[in-house]
Amino acid sequence: MKILVTGGAGFIGSNFVRMLAAERTTWKVVVLDKLTYAGRLENIEDLTVRPGFRFVMGDICDPAAVAGAMEGCDAVVNFAAETHVDRSIEEASSFVRTDVEGVRVLLEEFRKGDRLLFLQVSTDEVYGSVETGYSRETDSLCPRSPYSASKAGGELLAMSYHYTYGTPVIVTRASNNYGPFQYPEKLIPLFITNALDGLQLPLYGDGLNRRDWLFVEDHCKAILAVLEQSPGGSVYNIGGGFEKSNLEVTRAVLDSVGAGPELIRFIEDRPGHDRRYALDIGRITGETSWKPETDFRRGMEITVEWYRTHRKWWEGIKSGEFGEYYRRMYRDRLARSRGVPQE
Ligand code: NAD
Ligand code: TYD
Repeated sequence: MKILVTGGAGFIGSNFVRMLAAERTTWKVVVLDKLTYAGRLENIEDLTVRPGFRFVMGDICDPAAVAGAMEGCDAVVNFAAETHVDRSIEEASSFVRTDVEGVRVLLEEFRKGDRLLFLQVSTDEVYGSVETGYSRETDSLCPRSPYSASKAGGELLAMSYHYTYGTPVIVTRASNNYGPFQYPEKLIPLFITNALDGLQLPLYGDGLNRRDWLFVEDHCKAILAVLEQSPGGSVYNIGGGFEKSNLEVTRAVLDSVGAGPELIRFIEDRPGHDRRYALDIGRITGETSWKPETDFRRGMEITVEWYRTHRKWWEGIKSGEFGEYYRRMYRDRLARSRGVPQE
């Protein structure tokens, strides 16, 4: 098997290629990544020297770069995307470009060859906010942020190639991931690294928005299971089964780091903030051997330990582009914030 992993220098993609290097040792792996602010070669540098592993720096919207990277590949897993909801609210064009047009460029190149499978990595956010119950793959999509709308466009385009050209496509919709190598703009790594430095934890709104949390290794195993066990032409939800409010997650972070609730600050909400995501994972657990294995407490222990022991990694990020982003996104809102009432 020769596999192209796009976005393999980002959070989930780097965990995925690391898992392949350990568990599918005969596979040839090509990583295509533009190395945006979120992609870091250092995430996979130890792997790039291995035989059978190739790193290509390039954009999934560039047909020539895609053609070169996909040459001889049997399968493609597309992780490459702009991924942060708050950034999509500031500026949507890079999201539409990479998350929709980039998928089209990949699909066009894919169908030129005789290949096995195109797996489009999508998100539970395409269902929109789900106040009660659990989203099933057959539910209609109702994305409500520029990020989730772009991801919905990308996955719909991918399935359209399946119906139109018979392209073997699979779409996976995962819930919120956490674990090692996650860029510290996202809730859990931002709060862990802030708490380790004694900095405030900016919770949006009332802190009661709910997400289903999935440990990144479980997500990677699910993708591999689907890749190897599904015939194609299907959509699969991938969830961890740990539904929590953001306030509960924040308290778990504070417990693991050993910091107190005085760090919590409630700040002005994200516009259009989806209240809840929750997934029914009956299809993937029924059709493949996969099920989530890592409970939230254990996953948090591993994650906090990783950020504790990889301070250089995140300090480098936080002192660069991210510092400017953080000031723009949080400074004024933190100045107007309120803390947790004394218990
Ligand atoms: P990330 O932001 O950490 O990494 C994205 C990677 O894609 C980076 O390495 C970046 O350099 C690369 N990239 C961006 N634009 C590119 C382009 N035009 N060409 C080539 N490479 C490009 O993201 P992540 O959290 O690892 O997410 C990976 C995928 O999983 C995304 O498709 C995302 O929508 C999906 N997803 C993420 C989560 C989550 O909780 N993080 C949940 C469900 C689905
Ligand atoms: P995030 O990690 O951005 O993922 P997503 O928006 O894709 O679910 O946010 C997870 C939840 O945490 C979401 O409800 C927004 C909230 N949140 C905060 O309260 N404060 C923050 O600083 C961030 C980044 C997120």
